[in-house]
Amino acid sequence: MLYSELFAAALRASRKRELSAAVEALIESSFGISRTRFWIQKNQPVRDATGLRRFRRRLQRLLDDEPLAYILGAKEFYGETLLVSPAVLVPRPETELLVEKALQLLGRGKARVLDIGAGSGAIAVILALRSRAEVTALEKSLPALAVLKKNIARFGLRERVRPLAGDLFPLRAERFQMIVSNPPYLSRRDWRRAPATVRLYEPRAALEAGPAGTEALARIIAGAPGRLEPGGRLLLEIGRGQHRAVSGFLKGAGLRERECVRDYAGIERVIVAQME
Ligand SMILES: C[S@@+](CC[C@H](N)C(=O)[O-])C[C@H]1O[C@@H](n2cnc3c(N)ncnc32)[C@H](O)[C@@H]1O
Repeated sequence: MLYSELFAAALRASRKRELSAAVEALIESSFGISRTRFWIQKNQPVRDATGLRRFRRRLQRLLDDEPLAYILGAKEFYGETLLVSPAVLVPRPETELLVEKALQLLGRGKARVLDIGAGSGAIAVILALRSRAEVTALEKSLPALAVLKKNIARFGLRERVRPLAGDLFPLRAERFQMIVSNPPYLSRRDWRRAPATVRLYEPRAALEAGPAGTEALARIIAGAPGRLEPGGRLLLEIGRGQHRAVSGFLKGAGLRERECVRDYAGIERVIVAQME
């Protein structure tokens, strides 16, 4: 069998053209060759039997709707490669908007930042890499915390990112110049309607907040004034149609809403609020 035949057969099996990039990535990782090398040697016979077995196992997982990131154990986020496992949410492109906004606000100054629900560490790691912030990365799930610690070590950030187990806020009373969070924000109904690739594989506790979907957002906003320095910022990723409810929570907590950033689909996605 030639590499090109292997590729064509995999695409036929998937019956989804949009999987072609994923199949390329599987070939790359299974045979240990770059995409360019694969296309250069596409008309050569596949001689690597171990690679072939690995590829077939991984392809089956992809056809069973498992996210590519879990199969590869890694995901690109904000130009970096983060380790991921089924214990953590696969970092999403929308979250890059929150990171971008946070970096813009942090500028070149030093700041203490709290990332609530850090998961793989996508937000915490990038903030520490691209600014002078010192980040407390808080996570409730212990298996997720283990992945977070691996990413902190992988990027040499042990001095700058502090992993912490907890329920939304650190037990120790401390204040931060910025709090960021991409909390669970799906309602129970949203979760039931999520595509199989999400529902069957990603941790439910990372996605579903409760019957309404805004439960975690409400708790974070209610607790934020007690944890922010005066003038400190709160940046939250929110779900479609949650802006109004979140504005109400902010008002109730005495936080001033500064900005709402829309994502590439035009959905209101990141809320910036400030402690007066
Ligand atoms: C949507 S994921 C975000 C993960 C990561 N920050 C990202 O943006 O890719 C939400 C994360 O919050 C964590 N989480 C859920 N409830 C929590 C709680 N009460 N306290 C702390 N973390 C929580 C979940 O385990 C999950 O890792």
